[in-house]
Amino acid sequence: MQQEANRLLQEGKTIAFVPTMGYFHEGHLALMREGREHGDALIVSIFVNPTQFSPTEDLQAYPRDLHRDARLAEGVGVDMIFAPEAEGMYAKGYQTFVNLETLPLALCGLSRPGHFRGVATVVTKLFHIVKPQVAVFGEKDYQQLAVVRRLVEDLSFDIRIIGVPTVREKDGLAMSSRNTYLSGGERPSALSLFQALQLARERVRQGITDAKALIEEVSGLILSYPLTKIDYVALCDPETLEDVKRVDELSVMALAVWVGKTRLIDNAVLTS
Ligand code: PAJ
Repeated sequence: MQQEANRLLQEGKTIAFVPTMGYFHEGHLALMREGREHGDALIVSIFVNPTQFSPTEDLQAYPRDLHRDARLAEGVGVDMIFAPEAEGMYAKGYQTFVNLETLPLALCGLSRPGHFRGVATVVTKLFHIVKPQVAVFGEKDYQQLAVVRRLVEDLSFDIRIIGVPTVREKDGLAMSSRNTYLSGGERPSALSLFQALQLARERVRQGITDAKALIEEVSGLILSYPLTKIDYVALCDPETLEDVKRVDELSVMALAVWVGKTRLIDNAVLTS
């Protein structure tokens, strides 16, 4: 991959990059379409990165279908797929990791310790391997996008990061490879995340900006559905992800909810 990247750069081409774990849906394809606009060559990586999964998480069960992914990627103009094996990315004796100080202490980092260390490490490695000038990430994984922006700034990567708004199903459910885990019976409960964000937006429009009041009402709505368990409902600063007391000019409401055995996340930017 590095040789291919060098060849493209020597030809004077710019590289746009979309890192993924595969099993593509319209959210991934939206990132690729955006990437297509920003580089001569569009490269997508598919790698279910073991270092961002804890031993109790779904690394083995994570859905995979490389042939289908390749076909979908070709359809949106991807030039090259980089799909390494875990042994190639983390050879015997591997011991170097990228750690952020405070961003991983919020939201998903609390229930997934080590997750963002895995993400920051693999994204750093992928940037060194693919050598892009532009990289595209989804706002669906809001904390991940914040971590990547910080990482690029802090480690002086000469890469422009572009965020793409969350792509949703017709009913509002944020697209995710993990939605394939949901049974028919769980599906209505999965929609509670989107409905909770809609409710928060509506309340802010009505002038309710107090974090405690918003979180309480949103939590109540989520828990009124069967099979739901809240990991967190948070109102936070869009950059530091620290909790805020009320909706400010820009605040982010972020949710993580278990629906049966599936953990779903979603978020919305709220503005007073
Ligand atoms: P993955 O979950 O496959 O997501 C790849 C990219 O697609 C991420 O930037 C994610 O935010 C974006 N994405 C997922 N669902 C989306 C949706 N509904 N709308 C818009 N964008 C969406 O995120 C990862 O993989 C990994 O952590 C990775 C960054 C590849 C590092 O291993």
